[in-house]
Amino acid sequence: MHDPLVELNDIYCRLGTKEVFTGLSLRVNRGEILSVVGVSGVGKSTLLKVISRLVPVQQGIVRVFGLDLSTLAEDECNQRVRSRIGFVFQSGALFDWMTVEDNVIFPLIYGVRSDATGLTKARERARQLLRVVKMEGTEHHQPDQHSGGMKKRVAIARALITQPDLILYDEPTSGLDPVMGAIIDDLIVQMRDQFGVTEIVVTHDLAAARRFSDRIAMLHNGRIIAVADPENFLRLKDPVVQQFVRGEGYGPLTANL
Ligand SMILES: Nc1ncnc2c1ncn2[C@@H]1O[C@H](COP(=O)(O)OP(=O)(O)OP(=O)(O)O)[C@@H](O)[C@H]1O
Ligand SMILES: [Mg+2]
Repeated sequence: MHDPLVELNDIYCRLGTKEVFTGLSLRVNRGEILSVVGVSGVGKSTLLKVISRLVPVQQGIVRVFGLDLSTLAEDECNQRVRSRIGFVFQSGALFDWMTVEDNVIFPLIYGVRSDATGLTKARERARQLLRVVKMEGTEHHQPDQHSGGMKKRVAIARALITQPDLILYDEPTSGLDPVMGAIIDDLIVQMRDQFGVTEIVVTHDLAAARRFSDRIAMLHNGRIIAVADPENFLRLKDPVVQQFVRGEGYGPLTANL
């Protein structure tokens, strides 16, 4: 089997007094779309932050692009890992005081190349990407002039500007209407098919995850308790997975609530 693009091996991660991961392992293959599901507060956002080393782990190995993240200095991590990752944050995280276009080129000009030629090229590419996400013509608008779905699309264009090899999406369709959700889902597939990127998508929407994922992973109690292709995921006998799949209020997932 070929080397995975992301490999988490028996990781432990504590945030404050909370043990978020207690022996979590996961491999993500090059070119795959992997969805991560799990109930609120289980650590989905933290998982994406661990992969980009925005959150450190206390034990275990995190390997991204074949590099053990614990061995990298901060600037090395920026240059060799974070610059190759596009992160679509749960909140969108656009700067409201900048235009849409300036938001999109931000990762490119931030500390990288801000000479005139670099800037012109960055603006051309931003416009191209705004076309890809169907937001052409909004370059000079402020993000807060737009709806939640439009802002998410701008956030996706921004995540793509550095031509990343890996895109991490944190609930890219939550709070959107089903039509806008479907547009974003199609975009996720298009990114992989057109640009060959590997994608990890945190989502609550199992129906959507079934449509676009190669595999679905379920996070529960600090670990990945199941990973399977969509067909087989739905058939897993694990009672936690079953409760999540059926969307039932009563069961092992909610035993401690
Ligand atoms: N900086 C922090 N300090 C202390 N605890 C934190 C910190 N960040 C997150 N946590 C806790 O870690 C756990 C996992 O949080 P995380 O945001 O990863 O969950 P999530 O699965 O993304 O939830 P949601 O579906 O609501 O977005 C939660 O219990 C949260 O309160
Ligand atoms: Mg989250």
